[in-house]
Amino acid sequence: MDWALFVILQVIFQPSLSVLFTVEAERPTYTSEFGGDVVMGCRFQPKPSNPQADLKVSWRWLGSTSPWEVYQMNNGKEHSASPEYQGRVRLLTEQLNEGWAKLQVSRLRINDSGVYQCLVQTGEGADYKAITLSVIAPYKTLTKRIVKAAEGDKVLLTCQSEGYPESPVVWQDGRLQSLKSNTTTVSTPEQLFKVTSQIHVNSSDKDNYTCHFLNGGQSATFHIPDEIPVPQVKNDALIVVLSIGLIMVVIIVAVLMYRRRKGSNTPSTRNLLVDGRGGPVSAVACSQTDKENEEERTIFNEERIEENLGAILKAHYSDVSFSTEVRHHSGSFDVEELPHRLQNNEGQAMKPQALLPEAGEILLLQGPPGSGKTTVAHILVSSWVEGPAHSLANVLDLSILRLLLYIDCSAAKGDLFQEVVTQLSLMEKTSTEDELRTLLTRSSDTLLLLDGYREGNQFFDESLKRFLCERGGCRVLVVTCPEHCPTLKETIGTRGVLKLQTQTVKY
Ligand SMILES: *[C@@H]1O[C@H](CO)[C@@H](O)[C@H](O)[C@H]1NC(C)=O
Ligand SMILES: *[C@@H]1O[C@H](CO)[C@@H](O)[C@H](O)[C@H]1NC(C)=O
Ligand SMILES: *[C@@H]1O[C@H](CO)[C@@H](O)[C@H](O)[C@H]1NC(C)=O
Ligand SMILES: *[C@@H]1O[C@H](CO)[C@@H](O)[C@H](O)[C@H]1NC(C)=O
Repeated sequence: MDWALFVILQVIFQPSLSVLFTVEAERPTYTSEFGGDVVMGCRFQPKPSNPQADLKVSWRWLGSTSPWEVYQMNNGKEHSASPEYQGRVRLLTEQLNEGWAKLQVSRLRINDSGVYQCLVQTGEGADYKAITLSVIAPYKTLTKRIVKAAEGDKVLLTCQSEGYPESPVVWQDGRLQSLKSNTTTVSTPEQLFKVTSQIHVNSSDKDNYTCHFLNGGQSATFHIPDEIPVPQVKNDALIVVLSIGLIMVVIIVAVLMYRRRKGSNTPSTRNLLVDGRGGPVSAVACSQTDKENEEERTIFNEERIEENLGAILKAHYSDVSFSTEVRHHSGSFDVEELPHRLQNNEGQAMKPQALLPEAGEILLLQGPPGSGKTTVAHILVSSWVEGPAHSLANVLDLSILRLLLYIDCSAAKGDLFQEVVTQLSLMEKTSTEDELRTLLTRSSDTLLLLDGYREGNQFFDESLKRFLCERGGCRVLVVTCPEHCPTLKETIGTRGVLKLQTQTVKY
């Protein structure tokens, strides 16, 4: 029988046994922020005489139907937890001696909320307590937008933000009168609420309008008409300059298109911007469609472009033959050894799955020269290409990724996007850097894998920095030697650091 269940039954039916041994929750409830950490504590008495040999600790989440094992330690040995918590939980083992069973949960998700149960058993007895965790996401950054209505002198004011739980929005004018607004809420994949609130106002009235997100207290004010964007041309000289500029742009674009056409006459060239039926799927085509469907269509098209690009990348990696190279490389490194070599910054063993960053996360994989970092990067690529057929498929599942972009930074000469285009042979396949940038930053199913990164190449560093700032949901894994990228490491912090040991560590 499951020992946790056994402990519960024991406490319920034989209270006399557990009279001496007690577990107390540090606090009955914890509230923490989305993406952050929480440490939940249970104190047990008396302290164990030998925590290595005579102590069992279990943390469970009492979910909707049946409880989930979040973490279990059995006489000093850790047991693998539910995949939902993989790589995100640890027991503060150094405090066990003092009678504390503290569990740290990192990168908190909204659905980590709920009731947790800590169970502790020593030779003296067993007991358990329940603790409630609420994960919240304050509405921190408000986005303001002002759009002039097509006709009349109305303007549309929009306030938008993401958070949890749902927040009502109220609008007030300069005299603090409430205004009627249109507020819509949609859920994001991270289970946050994206709240958009809009009002129409008269642009010729001089007034101030403020939107308040009641849950969290954030607000933003529009000063009308001062903040209405005026695309006005000031004088004739400017018109002349702009016209000349425009003509030159047209000529340059025409020349470029002519060259592009000449260059792309080879039959083997596939163009991502052409969909399966041969119709062009460009921004121009979209802008002619009905306004209401515009956003949806753009996303739909991006998905199709993403799919095409995914297939092209897989073909490219198969050509380059990453899997053979792994076998080649592996003089000092057996693929099956990976699970024993990976550690977090505190030196605890990590599952290979921890190599996959969460959406929007940046991870740093560090290892001394010769520890097989590049092999690991190649394992990730071959695992993505081969899917369930890969030899590590049972411990490394990258099926969530639609795109994996592998860049060998030691060979980098240009900036990040030039390298993506040249190294992955995408010259003829994506039209512009902007398109690539949009594709990467919009999707949370993309992994940018930078192998052998070392700070010092100014072009590359700056473009990477810029990309990381606007990365959106893109996942980033940087593979590097320790000390090779101090600046990046500082921005990421120690939580995003994984280490690769030269020696196999056994537990
Ligand atoms: C709008 O706000 C500005 C600055 O906060 C203030 O000076 C001005 O009087 C306000 N106007 C109205 C109409 O409330
Ligand atoms: C409210 O806004 C949504 C989205 O912008 C729109 O579809 C809907 O028609 C609006 N409703 C009203 C009453 O204006
Ligand atoms: C919890 O949310 C995450 C996304 O934030 C999702 O990947 C996961 O499947 C969710 N878990 C459950 C049990 O719904
Ligand atoms: C906007 O305000 C101006 C002056 O205050 C008024 O003449 C005009 O009719 C108003 N327009 C609308 C659409 O309410």
